[in-house]
Amino acid sequence: MCGSFCTFSKAYEQMQVLAKDGYELVPIMSENAANTDTRFGTAEENRLRAEKITGSRVLCTKVDTEPLGPRDICDMLVIAPCTGNTLAKLSLGVTDTAVTMAAKSLLRVGKPVLICAATNDALGASAQNIGRLLNTKNIFFVPLAQDDHENKPNSLVADFELIPKCVTKALGKEQLQPILV
Ligand SMILES: Cc1cc2nc3c(=O)[nH]c(=O)nc-3n(C[C@H](O)[C@H](O)[C@H](O)COP(=O)(O)O)c2cc1C
Repeated sequence: MCGSFCTFSKAYEQMQVLAKDGYELVPIMSENAANTDTRFGTAEENRLRAEKITGSRVLCTKVDTEPLGPRDICDMLVIAPCTGNTLAKLSLGVTDTAVTMAAKSLLRVGKPVLICAATNDALGASAQNIGRLLNTKNIFFVPLAQDDHENKPNSLVADFELIPKCVTKALGKEQLQPILV
C-alpha cells in the first residue's frame, strides 16, 4: 500500500476478498502509508487493519522487503493503492521505500508486479511514468478509469474490484484487458 489514503478502504476490501479466496497475504506499506495520520484514519489504525485481515505483521522498511524475491517468500506483488510518487520511482528505478524495494526484489527474480494506481496526475505528470511502466516486463496494471473528468481531468483511479481477476492473470504473466475502462 502507498499513500493514497482516500482509497485505503477499497484496498482493504480487496485484501479481504483475496484472503477469503485462500491467498496467503504479506502486507507491505510504504513508509508514508505506514506512518502518516490523515483524515482517513491514523497510521496505527491502518497498520492494524491490514494485520488483522492478513494475520501478518506489516512490512514497512526496505530491510523488511529486500528478501521477498530472492528468498522466494512471495509469488507476486500487488501495489494497491499505488501513488503518482511511487509510479515515478518505479519507472525511473528509484528504490528508496519499502514498496519500491519490494518491487525491485520481485522483478529481479522475474516475478510479476501488479499496479493498482490512484492519482490525480495520471494524465499529467504521471502519464510518462505509466507509459514507461506499461512497456516494462513483468509489470501489469489493474484497469484504470477517469473518476471525475470535469473536476479532475488528469485523474485516473484503477477499478479495485478487478484486483482478484488481475492477480490470476498476472500470475500467468498476462494483462487483464481492457486496460482502460
Ligand atoms: C490525505 C492524503 C491523500 C493523498 N492521496 C493521494 C492519492 O490518492 N494519490 C497519490 O498519488 N498521492 C496521494 N497523496 C500524496 C502521497 O501520500 C505522497 O505523494 C506520498 O509521498 C506518497 O508516498 P509513497 O508513494 O511512498 O506512499 C495523498 C496525501 C495525503 C496527505
